[in-house]
Amino acid sequence: MRIVLLGAPGSGKGTQSQRLVERVHIPQISTGDLLRSAVARGTELGRLAREAMEGGRLVDDSLVLGMIRERVGEPDTRRGFILDGFPRNLAQAHALDHLLESLRRPLDAVVQLEVDYKELVRRLAGRRSCADCGRVFNLLTSPPGPDSTLCPKTGHPHRLVQRPDDNEATVAERLRVYDEKTRPLIDFYRARGLLQVIDAEGDVDAVTRRLAKALGEPALAKSPKKKAAAKKKAVAKKKPEARKTAAKAGRRKPAAKRTAAASVRKARAAAKVRHTARRAAAARRGKR
Ligand code: AP5
Repeated sequence: MRIVLLGAPGSGKGTQSQRLVERVHIPQISTGDLLRSAVARGTELGRLAREAMEGGRLVDDSLVLGMIRERVGEPDTRRGFILDGFPRNLAQAHALDHLLESLRRPLDAVVQLEVDYKELVRRLAGRRSCADCGRVFNLLTSPPGPDSTLCPKTGHPHRLVQRPDDNEATVAERLRVYDEKTRPLIDFYRARGLLQVIDAEGDVDAVTRRLAKALGEPALAKSPKKKAAAKKKAVAKKKPEARKTAAKAGRRKPAAKRTAAASVRKARAAAKVRHTARRAAAARRGKR
């Protein structure tokens, strides 16, 4: 499965990609995450990308394409991948086409996540992520509650930070750049017969179900936790039923009982043999 998730900043590309990763076990390739990691590590790529990112503009195509070529060539992408935040303009879309053509691994689907402008701004203003494990929360829509698990990296409560480009001025610029440079990709992929558009507002699980439907993969809609719980319930339900059927058929006692009954039978048979032998011996003695 080779998928592109298209959508404006805050439309939920990262959130839904994570869910696909958990359910279909193919990697998420997020150019934003790769660039942020380069900035944090202070690499040459990070140094070159930083200014554009802080201003809400696109990073130079040549830098992003180099990164994508390298990542798509890694072995974990053989079963597929989810591109999140790439391509971002027509030049990147054409370059991706050529790259995947040369690898004979064309795209299977492109899904556009549609969210109203006001809702995008609200989501981005509320977004916070854990500085240690990177888990994404939202102060308004999914805050870390008392039942949130602790940070798996530190074992302590999550340490929430705001992304530097989630401030009001940069968000406005990112949304403007999206309309100008990325929106035209909707027509680009529609013309290629790859585009699906879904309503990405409302409950996160409902959006995942719509995404699963668009990709023709109903299994994607089931969360791994819910799947495990359903399996446990099915087994628990099946056990008394199986016991009832066995009792009805009047067959096979439990193994322990079967063993005990066999020992009794064996002992009785041995006693019978001994008894017959004693009687035979007595008869012989009587004859003499
Ligand atoms: P990038 O990191 O790609 O940012 P983005 O596209 O602006 O997208 P976001 O990560 O902001 O949003 P998202 O759609 O992933 O939403 P999320 O799931 O987090 O790029 C950052 C920068 O890097 C760019 O500005 C650019 O400079 C550079 N860059 C990256 N790729 C590039 C490229 N290809 N070329 C050139 N430059 C590039 O959700 C957002 C919030 O909403 C979260 O808090 C979440 O909890 C919440 N939420 C999610 N779903 C729902 C829901 N259904 N209901 C309520 N809340 C929800």
